[in-house]
Amino acid sequence: MKILVTGGAGFIGGNFIACALRENRADEIVCMDKLTYAGNMHTLSGALKDPRFRFYRGDIACKKDVEEVFRKESPDAVINFAAESHVDRSIAHPSVFLKTNVSGVGVLLDACRKYGNVRFHQVSTDEVYGDLPLGGKGDAFTEDSPLRPSSPYSASKASADLLALAYSRTYGLPVTLSRCSNNYGPFQFPEKLIPLALTHILRGEPVPVYGTGENVRDWLFAEDHCAAIRLILQKGEPGRVYNVGGRCERSNLEVVRALISAVGKGEYTFVADRPGHDLRYAIDPSFAESLGWAPKVPFEEGLQRTVAWYLSHEEWWKGILDGSYRAYNKEFYGSKR
Ligand code: NAD
Ligand code: TYD
Repeated sequence: MKILVTGGAGFIGGNFIACALRENRADEIVCMDKLTYAGNMHTLSGALKDPRFRFYRGDIACKKDVEEVFRKESPDAVINFAAESHVDRSIAHPSVFLKTNVSGVGVLLDACRKYGNVRFHQVSTDEVYGDLPLGGKGDAFTEDSPLRPSSPYSASKASADLLALAYSRTYGLPVTLSRCSNNYGPFQFPEKLIPLALTHILRGEPVPVYGTGENVRDWLFAEDHCAAIRLILQKGEPGRVYNVGGRCERSNLEVVRALISAVGKGEYTFVADRPGHDLRYAIDPSFAESLGWAPKVPFEEGLQRTVAWYLSHEEWWKGILDGSYRAYNKEFYGSKR
């Protein structure tokens, strides 16, 4: 099977490509990525040495870029990881979220229709359901929970979900969706809580904790998310949504304190809260589990592995913080054919 992975130079897409090549899960992987600030060719350095892998620089919201890749590569399936993914950025600059996260998905869906009813998987998020009250028990989001997005980011992801499901119903396009909780692990851009906290701790700066730090997220190691997506691609029922999560709720303060303890140093400071800050996420992943999926990496182990990775890959995150990764990305501009 030849899989087109969009957004593969980012955090979860990069993990997906590494796992798929390592475990011989695909005959060929084609990656298309716009290389925005969040895309990093260093993340793909292992894959680029593999003859089963090809990279195209392109924008999912650009029909010409997308059709060029479809014409050259004729993928059997598309997994769309490409997105603007950071809530804080969506609050500051919402319009690019609409372009990539909504229009971009529309362009991919049209290409899937045009080039032979290609299997399409949309990587979505639990944030489309909005938030839950703090302290609740047994109230996790199911696939039938109403969509109540709070931020421009989550609203754009919810819009894309609806579009993808409409293409399934109206045109019979074989579409599945996964809505996953917060991911963590190697290669995560240091704007998200865990890598931001780690890079602050390692540089001797206090970790900024929004509001009171009581907000709760449901954490999953990125490789477990990738395994769920692979299984949904193989066994998922077209037209269906699969919630994915680790049944692992932690408050932000608990996470930051665990990181400080794992590194053996560090401090945090409370800062102004995020506008519209979602209180709590909790996912019921029973439907994905019914396919035979289960998370393999407990939070404490995953956090240790993540800390060890950031400690041993200083050049990766320092290259982001000093901006030098952008020059490396530029070397690949020529790969756009
Ligand atoms: P990321 O920001 O690390 O990576 C996104 C990638 O998409 C980058 O490589 C970027 O260059 C690329 N990209 C952005 N706009 C593009 C465009 N117009 N055309 C082509 N490529 C483009 O994001 P991530 O954390 O890896 O998230 C991947 C997907 O998973 C997203 O769709 C996100 O909504 C979803 N998700 C993320 C989490 C999480 O905790 N990170 C949880 C659930 C779902
Ligand atoms: P984030 O990693 O941005 O993911 P999301 O908002 O999509 O869940 O944030 C995770 C939680 O951590 C969220 O409640 C906001 C909080 N947070 C901080 O307290 N400080 C920070 O510097 C960041 C980036 C996030």
